[in-house]
Amino acid sequence: MARTKSAGKSHFLCNECGAVQPRWMGKCPDCGAWDALKKFVEPAGEAAQSESIAREWQADEPGGLAPTTSRAIPLVEVQTRDTPRWPSGIGELDRVLGGGFVPGSVTLLGGEPGIGKSTLLMQAAARLAGEGRRVLYATSEESAEQVRMRAERLLGGELSTSASAADAGGADGDPAAGGGAGSGLDRFYVLADTNLARIAEQAREVRPDVCVIDSIQMVWKPDLDASPGSASQLRHCASELVRLAKVSSMAVIMVGHVTKDGQLAGPKLLEHLVDTVVSFEGDAHHAHRIVRGVKNRFGTTLEVGLFEMTGTGLQEVRDIGRFRDDGPPRPGAAVAAVMHGTRAIPVEIQALTATGILGGAKRKASGIDTNRLAMIIAVLEQHGGMRLADQDIFVQVVGGLRVVEPAADLAVMLAIASAMRRQIVPRGLVAAGEVGLGGEIRGVQHAPRRAIESARLGYRGMLSRPAGSPSSGRRGREATEELPIPLVPARTVAEVLSILEPLPVDSRG
Ligand code: TYD
Ligand code: MG
Repeated sequence: MARTKSAGKSHFLCNECGAVQPRWMGKCPDCGAWDALKKFVEPAGEAAQSESIAREWQADEPGGLAPTTSRAIPLVEVQTRDTPRWPSGIGELDRVLGGGFVPGSVTLLGGEPGIGKSTLLMQAAARLAGEGRRVLYATSEESAEQVRMRAERLLGGELSTSASAADAGGADGDPAAGGGAGSGLDRFYVLADTNLARIAEQAREVRPDVCVIDSIQMVWKPDLDASPGSASQLRHCASELVRLAKVSSMAVIMVGHVTKDGQLAGPKLLEHLVDTVVSFEGDAHHAHRIVRGVKNRFGTTLEVGLFEMTGTGLQEVRDIGRFRDDGPPRPGAAVAAVMHGTRAIPVEIQALTATGILGGAKRKASGIDTNRLAMIIAVLEQHGGMRLADQDIFVQVVGGLRVVEPAADLAVMLAIASAMRRQIVPRGLVAAGEVGLGGEIRGVQHAPRRAIESARLGYRGMLSRPAGSPSSGRRGREATEELPIPLVPARTVAEVLSILEPLPVDSRG
């Protein structure tokens, strides 16, 4: 192509992670993928080229092309205004977004295939339409029928009432006047296409407030000299959508699949381009799902939203007591009070030890980091006098939750020691503490919040490092604050192990 010939620079883009390399290599130095670097020639006048869709949109506007003069002004003269928001009406999602979708912004929703991204966005889109927004749901992976079938499962009866209302009022009539369409689903448009130019053309037609692209990886521009699904297609399509969102004031929501190790495919490309990145996490074998803010230009990234996948879509989880098992005390179980965003959630950690082969013992973890597990096992051996070298050790988090906070260390250590010694953690005790390599237990932040939430769920004590002692991690006002449940002190491994109790006589097997 003439365009590519006249182009200056060429790079190599990794199809796995999207990293840009100056020359070809067999293995991507960033993500380690083999044979993933593909030549990518910057099209001449890249800016002009990749703005084409946004330019067409502006040319359509009554005033023609918007003036592009930018001028430097003193900082104090910069006008600020509250960011307008379109809440999705799904509280757990809106909290993560900082109040709702922002017009003119681009949100990337990442998650493993099958986790429920399309389900979440379908529910959010239907609610947005119900709130009076026009929605275009562009699906590049499924047919319009499949989208409709999902909608039937999620929205049930609402869909058929809206269909008759749309017939009566005319599909393109003023939606507000569209008689009887209480659910607003006649404002919800579906397009099954992978061609970005056609998606943009339909968006000009429909003029949506919110445009969902499910998924960005499958969208491509035919005039690019790159195969669909490649990193350079991804990069171009995403940046065109970002410009389109800016000129049209649409809120664009892109779905992005992540690879098995949790990386967004092409993270460097996409995460930099968009305004907000939220990841949808969970374990496909469990019903619980977490929406987590990864990047947010309009709010915090501290928040998480909790959902449960049911037969009729995602339900918001308000009762956070479900991440533990309320049976009789068992060896190998301990509850950690972990923070997810600004919320404390007591999460049960389970461990099992079994005789393995010396030098070849297995260490498996689900829901916590294996390196962290190895460290805690080493601390138990060195500072707790436990012999674990020939033990297979399995640790998991109840409910399919993933715990990244070091404050869960203490509960992991308790669970392993409890499993190994066949003793139990006293009933009603939660643990919050980080384990240090020297066998010391460190304090945690937000101890009062953890204690308050644990107390609310019926726990009667919190095992943690007392405030005020060295390396307690808590200072100032928080340190002197009264906790609603007593703090059971834990400063050393020995002190932690001493709280384990023998199994009650009737449950000894
Ligand atoms: P989906 O939203 O298609 O996942 P993604 O877009 O992230 O690939 O949903 C995937 C799974 O969710 C699928 O296995 C079926 C299940 N599911 C339910 O359990 N209940 C429902 O109401 C729906 C729509 C899906
Ligand atoms: Mg999907």
